[in-house]
Amino acid sequence: MTNPNRLSFLFAISLMLPAQLASQTGTPTSFVGSAVCKTCHPAIWARWSKTRMANVLNDPKVKPEVILPDFSRPDPVLTFGIADIAFVYGGKLKQRYFRKSGDDYFPLPATWDVTNQVWRPYAHIQQPTGQECDGCHSVNYDIRTKTVTEWNVGCEKCHGPASEHARRPSRANIVNPVRLDFVRANDVCIQCLSTGDSARNPIEGKNYAWPVGFRPGTVLKDFWKMDDRNALGPDNSYYPDGTGHGNRMQGNDFVTSVMYTRGVTCFSCHDVHGTENNADLLKPVSVLCLECHGPASPNGPHVADIARHTHHQQGSAGGDCVGCHMPKIQQTIADVTVHAHTFRFISPAVAQAAKMPDSCTACHKDKTSQWAADALRTWPEFSPWRMNP
Ligand code: HEC
Ligand code: HEC
Ligand code: HEC
Ligand code: HEC
Ligand code: HEC
Ligand code: HEC
Ligand code: HEC
Repeated sequence: MTNPNRLSFLFAISLMLPAQLASQTGTPTSFVGSAVCKTCHPAIWARWSKTRMANVLNDPKVKPEVILPDFSRPDPVLTFGIADIAFVYGGKLKQRYFRKSGDDYFPLPATWDVTNQVWRPYAHIQQPTGQECDGCHSVNYDIRTKTVTEWNVGCEKCHGPASEHARRPSRANIVNPVRLDFVRANDVCIQCLSTGDSARNPIEGKNYAWPVGFRPGTVLKDFWKMDDRNALGPDNSYYPDGTGHGNRMQGNDFVTSVMYTRGVTCFSCHDVHGTENNADLLKPVSVLCLECHGPASPNGPHVADIARHTHHQQGSAGGDCVGCHMPKIQQTIADVTVHAHTFRFISPAVAQAAKMPDSCTACHKDKTSQWAADALRTWPEFSPWRMNP
């Protein structure tokens, strides 16, 4: 007969995280770096190595080609030279520069706006980047030694420390986000793609703007406070309807969506190891949503054909689901914006009253919210109680 004690012991073990499991067996699991994963997972490594996640932060002495603007052109905002730069961050929408001082890095006071091709002053962050930035832009930033396993978003940022797995490869000693519950699964992405503060501030007298101590597989809420939705005045980083106002608020937004509660994750739409599509989407924008939504789908929209729902021609920007459900209203720098991730349609009438942008005029920039609200009144598929309350 099977020993019931042994069964419950096995059950308890199966609930443990790899790190706990390792400490149980006496071997501490540590970080090894993405180069180690390459030996056994070469195809994933090759795709990942081309993603922005693997390349946001660079040393210009190793890769001088990452610097986008022309430093030889004088500009009143530009007060430093290439020789001052220890690290370069980014290059899609904006590029920032850092100097080294002792064992700390500090931002230099100008940002390159890639879209508008101009220099903009960068309100100088007084704290070193270890407190403000490095936890998200590296793997295993150690707040005491100020060292990292590697810069950028390496494999173990999402799969956890993997020395044991590399030694004895098994599914049991590595975190695969797809096998976590919906909260922990999304938390793997939200650890970096949200705005907030460490829940443990102050730590040894210092405040941190990243979730110090978080490991994939644990609950982020124990390490992280998202920006307060009820904060008053300039401290509030949300629009009146609760949609994030600024850059990098995908996590703050997505947790409010019905999709989140139904088990849809960031990686239901994005392939984090890299694709040919913008933002590493699994499918191009025009077809992505239709994988799960369509006239016959219980997920909605509940209409006989999609054009009845969108009121725009198929193939027109106004016919894409993202146009109305992910308006570009989150400011990243100056007038450059990214998509909201609440997936809520923001009614023009409601937005007008709340003094915030709406789904229609975020795209019809030459029209007023009143124009859009009036047009919506003639669309019988939608409830007037909700569109024009
Ligand atoms: C020595 C070879 C080897 C190395 C090194 C290695 N892996 Fe693996 N990995 C494997 C094998 C083999 C499997 C499949 C195990 C199985 O199916 O039981 C696997 C499976 C996985 C899985 C999937 C688990 C699942 O749920 O299906 C992930 C995630 C993973 N590895 C991540 C990594 C990461 C991250 C690294 C680097 C830190 C790494 N691996 C290094 C051999 C390796
Ligand atoms: C909570 C995690 C987190 C913190 C803290 C953080 N970042 Fe980032 N950063 C990200 C993520 C995720 C991206 C990529 C997505 C994006 O661009 O919004 C990014 C992208 C960037 C980019 C590239 C933008 C582009 O257009 O290519 C720059 C520059 C940058 N960060 C600078 C900083 C600086 C400077 C700090 C500290 C003052 C910082 N980050 C703090 C997560 C973080
Ligand atoms: C930004 C987070 C992130 C990074 C970085 C990342 N992964 Fe993953 N990985 C995931 C997620 C999420 C899944 C589950 C995706 C799915 O199945 O939908 C996954 C799945 C896997 C799997 C199992 C499924 C498969 O496709 O075979 C392996 C193996 C794996 N990752 C290895 C790696 C390696 C090696 C690296 C570094 C070169 C890496 N990952 C980097 C998040 C990440
Ligand atoms: C239902 C699908 C879906 C889900 C779920 C989703 N995204 Fe997105 N995401 C998109 C689409 C569509 C875009 C726009 C891409 C484009 O315009 O080419 C996007 C864009 C982005 C961008 C690039 C910035 C921008 O707005 O263009 C980032 C970063 C991002 N998503 C992160 C996340 C994170 C983190 C999560 C989970 C918290 C998440 N996404 C969940 C569909 C999704
Ligand atoms: C992996 C499947 C999947 C994908 C891909 C997907 N959805 Fe969903 N969506 C769902 C599910 C499941 C629900 C919940 C349906 C329900 O329970 O009523 C939902 C609900 C919604 C809702 C209504 C609830 C809410 O959160 O407001 C909207 C709007 C929506 N999705 C928009 C989109 C858009 C836009 C895209 C593409 C960017 C997209 N979805 C892609 C599965 C998906
Ligand atoms: C992502 C961009 C986008 C969004 C979001 C969008 N539209 Fe449009 N709209 C277009 C484009 C492009 C056309 C012209 C081609 C067509 O008819 O599809 C158009 C055409 C129209 C027209 C007919 C032509 C005109 O200018 O009189 C009306 C009315 C209209 N849209 C109303 C709306 C309303 C109301 C909303 C919000 C519920 C909305 N649109 C959301 C892009 C958009
Ligand atoms: C022109 C604007 C517009 C476009 C484009 C659009 N929607 Fe909507 N959608 C709306 C409005 C308005 C509502 C009603 C919101 C409310 O009642 O609060 C809505 C509601 C929904 C809902 C929830 C209600 C239901 O019927 O289940 C889903 C799901 C949805 N849309 C999915 C989609 C998908 C998928 C696409 C792309 C094929 C899409 N939408 C394109 C405007 C749009």
